[in-house]
Amino acid sequence: MDFIAHRGYSAKFPENTELAFEQALLYGAKIIELDVTLTKDAKIVVIHDATLDRTTKAKGLVADYSWHELKELDAGSWKDEKFSHVRIPLFSSVLEKFGKEIAINVEIKKESVFLDEDQTIEPRLAEMLSMFAPLKHIQVSSFEPLALHRMRRLLPKAELCYLTKEKLNPDQREEMEYLEVVAQHVCIDDVDEAEVKLAHKAGIQIRTFTIKNKSDLAKAKALQVDGVFSDFLESDWT
Ligand code: G3P
Ligand code: MG
Repeated sequence: MDFIAHRGYSAKFPENTELAFEQALLYGAKIIELDVTLTKDAKIVVIHDATLDRTTKAKGLVADYSWHELKELDAGSWKDEKFSHVRIPLFSSVLEKFGKEIAINVEIKKESVFLDEDQTIEPRLAEMLSMFAPLKHIQVSSFEPLALHRMRRLLPKAELCYLTKEKLNPDQREEMEYLEVVAQHVCIDDVDEAEVKLAHKAGIQIRTFTIKNKSDLAKAKALQVDGVFSDFLESDWT
């Protein structure tokens, strides 16, 4: 079972920052997950929330700030004052620094999908990934199937992952197969034996997010899912 460092080593370091990715790598993670969205000037940044309110001292939508403004923000103090030097990273920088060292699951956030056609994130992400080798170490996921359809068209060889909070309905299962995803990511609370069997029958891996305690982990192991997303690393659980 794969352990995926959710937003980097986010239990101990500020999530979705280069420090959290570097520490995940240092402590043995093989895969990191991170969230991407667009700035006002269409730069791809790594941040989970649509707004800056929770993880920086600024307020408002990420999409209302330029990269020039965002790169100055303190993205670490909310976790601990000792991280006040930590900043929001550009995805290109994360890719360059970590992309050859560790597998990355890139989650596209909805705020950068539902925009005018020439402004959405997927062509920008696809261009960046297409220049990066080996592509097989990068997987792209989203709760928004539209983002996955666009990525499939732009990067036919991309490894895509279908992300849902709940179990899939038959239409979603059909869509997932049409998209030829490599994995289904489902919330730990909703996964069960039938869901695992259906995914495996279709030749698709199934991973669950987000493992928060030992009982979640025991459930994931008992169901024989292929991977778990956790803020903690595998070594913390043993
Ligand atoms: O990709 C798995 C997980 O990250 C999805 O939820 O809200 O943590 O991005 P969230
Ligand atoms: Mg995520």
